[in-house]
Amino acid sequence: MVLSSIIQIAREAGKIMMEASNPRIMEKSGHANFCTETDEKIQAFLIDKLSGICPDASFLGEEDGQDVFTSKMSKGLCFVIDPIDGTSNFIFAYRPSVISIALLKDGKPYLAVVYNPFDEKMFTAEAGKGAYLNRERIMSSETPLSESLAVFGTAPYYEELRDKTFDAVKKIMPLCVDVRRSGSAAWDMCCVACGSCSLYFEMRIQLWDYAAAALIATEAGCKVTDTEGKPLSYMGATSVVCVAQGVETLPDIF
Ligand code: IPD
Ligand code: CA
Ligand code: CA
Repeated sequence: MVLSSIIQIAREAGKIMMEASNPRIMEKSGHANFCTETDEKIQAFLIDKLSGICPDASFLGEEDGQDVFTSKMSKGLCFVIDPIDGTSNFIFAYRPSVISIALLKDGKPYLAVVYNPFDEKMFTAEAGKGAYLNRERIMSSETPLSESLAVFGTAPYYEELRDKTFDAVKKIMPLCVDVRRSGSAAWDMCCVACGSCSLYFEMRIQLWDYAAAALIATEAGCKVTDTEGKPLSYMGATSVVCVAQGVETLPDIF
């Protein structure tokens, strides 16, 4: 019931993304870190609509000063939203960009929706009840890494992690078919969840980047940890590695 309402709200938010033309672009701190007026518009829309279905929930969102995790958010219900994951893609008309919505219950993801409006792909999950793409159950790939694609994120806003990132890319290359970089962390993890690739890593992403997609991937049989193999905190920024079922041990690349 709540999940279907979130799905409907994500679809409507997708329309705002698709109808935007020439949005104003603002720069944030960090290398090439942008926000557009569409990011802000979608975040305001999501907060308004989602608080209508869960009036007691708190909110953590990337934009508009809503981005600090507080201890209150680890109790009860908390929506963690990224109005546009893939803002640079959105600005440059590169694809994809997605809307990411997670509902945490006592600090752990409980419901998740990641929606790519450009090709109408709606990934959803409920803790313990499986992951779905457009209502069809999905499972991650059982193929070994050596016969699969790997994807990575560049942690673009953290220049100090650049060498570490590209050292790991160099090490993963001979262990897989090839590497990809999409520009949306949530999308990358959903791609591991539905079997298009078998590994995703990024040296630092924020809670709103991973909260929803990590639940979708976990429910699709993936293992989602930090680069040391520890479980994710769901409290803030972290490194993330997401591997499909067919990847038995984390490759020694970090
Ligand atoms: C970014 C994207 C990108 C990833 C960055 C994220 P944003 O989110 O997910 O793929 O590499 O780490 O911050 O800024 O487009 O919402
Ligand atoms: Ca993001
Ligand atoms: Ca964003």
